Amino acid sequence: MIKVLICLLLHQAEKVSAAWSVTFENQDYCVVKGSSVELKCSYNYPDDESVRETAWYKGMLQDGIWERVKLSVLPTYKNRFAYRGDHVHNCSLVLQDLQEDDTGYYYFWFDTNRFGRNSKRSVYLSVTELKASIRPRRVSAGDNVTLECGTSCQSPRIIWFRDGHIVTEPEFRAKIQDAGNYSCAIEELKSMQSDPVALDVWYSPLNVSVEVNRSSPLLTGSSVTLTCRSAANPAADAYTWWYSSSFSNSSSELQVGSGQVLSIASVELAHSGTYICQAENRVGQSRSAEVLLTVEETVGIIIIILLVLPVVVVWAWKCLPHSDAGKEDLIDSIAFTCSITPPLCS
Ligand SMILES: *[C@@H]1O[C@H](CO)[C@@H](O)[C@H](O)[C@H]1NC(C)=O
Ligand SMILES: *[C@@H]1O[C@H](CO)[C@@H](O)[C@H](O)[C@H]1NC(C)=O
Ligand SMILES: *[C@@H]1O[C@H](CO)[C@@H](O)[C@H](O)[C@H]1NC(C)=O
Ligand SMILES: *[C@@H]1O[C@H](CO)[C@@H](O)[C@H](O)[C@H]1NC(C)=O
Ligand SMILES: *[C@@H]1O[C@H](CO)[C@@H](O)[C@H](O)[C@H]1NC(C)=O
Ligand SMILES: *[C@@H]1O[C@H](CO)[C@@H](O)[C@H](O)[C@H]1NC(C)=O
Repeated sequence: MIKVLICLLLHQAEKVSAAWSVTFENQDYCVVKGSSVELKCSYNYPDDESVRETAWYKGMLQDGIWERVKLSVLPTYKNRFAYRGDHVHNCSLVLQDLQEDDTGYYYFWFDTNRFGRNSKRSVYLSVTELKASIRPRRVSAGDNVTLECGTSCQSPRIIWFRDGHIVTEPEFRAKIQDAGNYSCAIEELKSMQSDPVALDVWYSPLNVSVEVNRSSPLLTGSSVTLTCRSAANPAADAYTWWYSSSFSNSSSELQVGSGQVLSIASVELAHSGTYICQAENRVGQSRSAEVLLTVEETVGIIIIILLVLPVVVVWAWKCLPHSDAGKEDLIDSIAFTCSITPPLCS
């Protein structure tokens, strides 16, 4: 008989505690300083009760004693919290403009016409700052890089961004295109990103090329400018020009200049040959492909002279009057007769 009674009481107690309950959707929140959070919450009580009052509390250590203090009496929470629940089953709370001091345990309490009830459980809220760091911050291409997001939260899910794009791995071998500004965020709150930190990736000169500025064809006596271009970080700061003559059997290279631009004010045939630019920064150096310069004798004028001279000589021979006429007459007659009608001379 007694056994049955105890059983009945226990059963009753279970029913009662099931009827009276507060449930938090999440037990833990990790939130970035300055943002806001909604602590999602629902509560239950026997159907014949009705709710008169609700309140949220924070667990606080006061004079060495752990107490629950109503948010509404705490000046630091003034205008920063809002009850989003109701007097039925919803007890959600919104906290805004979160500060690190808001970190702690939060409790819900409600009062019906018969009982006041505290939530047994609490919600733990961590308010954190995010501090992105990169180790090391300056690397050479190929080095390992580790991204770290400093936070006071316990193992939050962190995501990384480089210049706004998601970075999938927080550890990687740096490539040239990994350079940029990195920031971290908590996955659930992507919009609250840490201050960015820059990753600088150094690499030796790449894509070294020579830009040639010259007349075409390149005639002796004209000028030519060779400009060395490259992609490098830091920018190339030393250049060497190498030359191999077209007229020499030896493949030996001569150093013919330094500086980004190689100028030859007046080219000669001997300048014909291949040119190579070598660009260098503190990481390393590399060379351009060979550039061939072919200098041509100013043959145009020679050809004209060679072609025209015999004609002039022949024509002069035929046209010259074989008389003893005065010098002036002679010149006049050449100018008049020959320049207009040379074929008529004979
Ligand atoms: C009830 O709870 C939800 C979240 O679970 C919240 O969005 C909503 O605003 C709450 N309040 C009411 C009155 O529905
Ligand atoms: C870089 O990381 C890889 C694995 O990600 C590892 O195998 C390698 O040894 C690391 N290199 C250095 C220099 O630490
Ligand atoms: C990174 O940020 C700095 C200044 O904050 C800016 O000068 C630089 O251009 C940024 N880099 C990239 C790749 O956006
Ligand atoms: C080098 O040239 C290649 C091909 O044109 C290009 O894809 C690459 O981005 C260049 N590298 C750099 C660092 O500019
Ligand atoms: C190449 O030559 C032209 C005309 O002589 C000049 O306008 C131009 O600036 C030169 N370019 C370079 C890169 O020297
Ligand atoms: C090129 O090599 C050949 C044979 O080795 C030699 O006879 C000739 O003189 C060389 N020419 C020059 C310009 O050095």
